[in-house]
Amino acid sequence: MTLTLPDSGAQPGPDGRITAASASRNAGPILDLLRATLPAEGRMLEIASGTGQHARAFADALPGWTWQPTDVTAERFASITAWATGQDRVLSPRLLDAGQPGWAGGWGQWDAVLLVNLLHLIPEPACTAALNGIAAVLAPQGRALVYGPFLRDGLATSPGDAALDASLRAQDPAIGYKDQAWITARLEAQGCGVDWHQMPANNLAAVIFKI
Ligand SMILES: C[S@@+](CC[C@H](N)C(=O)[O-])C[C@H]1O[C@@H](n2cnc3c(N)ncnc32)[C@H](O)[C@@H]1O
Repeated sequence: MTLTLPDSGAQPGPDGRITAASASRNAGPILDLLRATLPAEGRMLEIASGTGQHARAFADALPGWTWQPTDVTAERFASITAWATGQDRVLSPRLLDAGQPGWAGGWGQWDAVLLVNLLHLIPEPACTAALNGIAAVLAPQGRALVYGPFLRDGLATSPGDAALDASLRAQDPAIGYKDQAWITARLEAQGCGVDWHQMPANNLAAVIFKI
């Protein structure tokens, strides 16, 4: 089903690029955390790349990194490709359904994985599949960064978050914000540790590593 989200109205420009306000807002804080977390070079698998803004901005800012954008739907590829124009280290987008159990088979190992603003939009079993897959594709010394809005002790942390969570659940009772502790438990079950970082606008980022 197609969800109605705060950025749903964003339209492509003449060259196919879509600019999502949320991606523009959170790019700086996420980049700061990537810079603090990642080594100088490596291969990044980005899940749920969306518009492709982050792939371009982060590849430009992290010159030792090659970026593999992906999304569940090829409808995103025109915008991802348009954003990537002129940046050879952003590879052609590939299809990846992170909610499909076992998706990691065939994806090999990655120095880093990035997932921004997806987990609240998919049901718990799909979320578990996404996290299990991230744990499976992460190289032994690798780092994954999962960013988004989460519940803390079962509660939303602002009226705006409570409203968005309620709106998502009204559209599909199976989706909505996941609890921070639930995410940590899923990752620990896969042999991973998590460092949580407070981000602007009540969001959190989980930096995930193999134990
Ligand atoms: C809210 S957008 C976030 C996009 C981008 N990460 C950002 O922060 O701007 C969610 C994206 O997740 C993609 N998506 C939805 N379900 C997915 C799944 N099961 N696996 C991978 N991507 C998925 C959508 O197509 C959409 O591009």
